[in-house]
Amino acid sequence: PPLEPFRDPLPLLPTLGGTSVEVHASSTMHTFHSDLPASPALAYGGVDYLGPTIEARVGERTSLVYRNDIVSNPLAADVDTRLHGVTEADRTDVATALHLHGGSNPPEFDGHPEHTLRRGQGLVYEFPNQQDACTLWYHDHAMGVTRLNIFAGLAGLYLLRDEFDTGTAGNPLGLPAGEFEVPLILQDKNFTEDGRQSVRSNPLNPQGSWEAATPGDTGVVNGKVWPEMAVARGLYRLRMVNAASFSMWNLFFDNRMRFWVIGAEGGLFDAPVPVDHVRLGPGERADLLVDFGALAPGATVELRNDEAIPDQVAQRGVLPMPRFCRFRVGAAAGYTGPVPQTLRGGRRQPPLLAPVAQPQVVRNVSVLQVGQGLGQPSPLMSLNNLRYTTDDIEMPRQGTVEQWNIVNATPEPHPIHLHLVRFRVLGRQAVDTAALMSASPLPAVGTRWTPSPDPFTRGPVLSPQPWESGFKDTVIADANSVTRVVVRFPTAEELGFDPDATFGMSAHATDHSGGHTGQAPQPLRGYVWHCHMLDHEDHDMMLKYRLAP
Ligand code: C2O
Ligand code: CU
Repeated sequence: PPLEPFRDPLPLLPTLGGTSVEVHASSTMHTFHSDLPASPALAYGGVDYLGPTIEARVGERTSLVYRNDIVSNPLAADVDTRLHGVTEADRTDVATALHLHGGSNPPEFDGHPEHTLRRGQGLVYEFPNQQDACTLWYHDHAMGVTRLNIFAGLAGLYLLRDEFDTGTAGNPLGLPAGEFEVPLILQDKNFTEDGRQSVRSNPLNPQGSWEAATPGDTGVVNGKVWPEMAVARGLYRLRMVNAASFSMWNLFFDNRMRFWVIGAEGGLFDAPVPVDHVRLGPGERADLLVDFGALAPGATVELRNDEAIPDQVAQRGVLPMPRFCRFRVGAAAGYTGPVPQTLRGGRRQPPLLAPVAQPQVVRNVSVLQVGQGLGQPSPLMSLNNLRYTTDDIEMPRQGTVEQWNIVNATPEPHPIHLHLVRFRVLGRQAVDTAALMSASPLPAVGTRWTPSPDPFTRGPVLSPQPWESGFKDTVIADANSVTRVVVRFPTAEELGFDPDATFGMSAHATDHSGGHTGQAPQPLRGYVWHCHMLDHEDHDMMLKYRLAP
């Protein structure tokens, strides 16, 4: 029988603060809904699903003490050893790599997908927190199993505070704080007949075989199915992340009330932006103000989704997942301050976030779905027509401002994420990708395909969406379009560390069929950029990049 919505209260994840936080990963059992049995899961930091919300302060280093204490793999049967870097060992000994998404961190602490930690191994990650206050999240990033590890539960929020956005009552910006500031980790999931969480989406696919699209039919917020939260009459700050494997969501309230977006991935906007919906792809965050003060006591309002399912997926009968959670308004007054007029206080602008100048370099990159991926009718997801293992990588120079034209030549949107940096969205424009591809035919996989889209653009340049008004680290590249972003690659001096230092050793010496390449492990270097659909990054829609000195 279908699960009853709003049966369980919205869980609030515990908060960890201070200069040292311990978030070991462990195997757990978690109950997603009162009518479901407990599911095997993974979690960080002693909870039984997801991880504590970490509070950090700009300018104060956070030492994150991590150890892989995972004793059993809840998704062992879903490991696909045909993916790059994945072996049979991953079924029993889960490879992990903790990544702070959106952080400007030294490469050895960036959770590089090949810098993995197995059972019993640990690392103290040092995060300098030298960037604007913002909504970050931490999650697993291990090569070829990221989609399994995050789905199983390895994800949490990380709120970076400063002297304006203090997270306490009486903050200079006048933002709701304490119980009126609510972190929300949004996911969609499927459950098996016997009620366990299942990473599989298409029942026709054999278990253990990677899937290109894994929408869920059930909304999960902070680890509960369609929960309900009791709210007071007043203004709330909702800090949400789309932590889905695949799904984009167009989020709105069922009474169609207006709300305000106050920040994206890179921090607060200059001023709140009124909207009646916000669209979030996997990896994107939204910092929202929602006023429950105008609603009558006893009223309920649902956070809904009406994003259409991409055609390729809709063809197998998948319907949009309709909702996430419900808010029940009580009689008590909550935070009754007004929506602030301005947000930044405007003073703290580290060099990383200096206003973006004219690009010195224009770089075309491409998002493609090509040929046969795994020796079956499933595509290889690719950036630039290359595989993850390529050495033909982007090498932007430190200190340069670049414009990246992200050409998505596939029929579905992909959320593209760059590690280390934040960027601004310039806009989007449709591209006649068929004409582009006939002018510049796609070579075999492994040979770069990054032609200029300029002669093939069609129609107007679409401005960034209202919720994209600030700095971002992940952007939806729409189907058959170019999405232009401008990004400044920081220098070692500005960062306070060498972003091009070598570190660790690649743990992987296997090729795409799981066989050994015969290569010795190599020292690691640099960062990655990738599609944040977790299924896609696990199957080559991820490339390395380095910052050239
Ligand atoms: Cu949220 Cu490379 O990751
Ligand atoms: Cu993708």
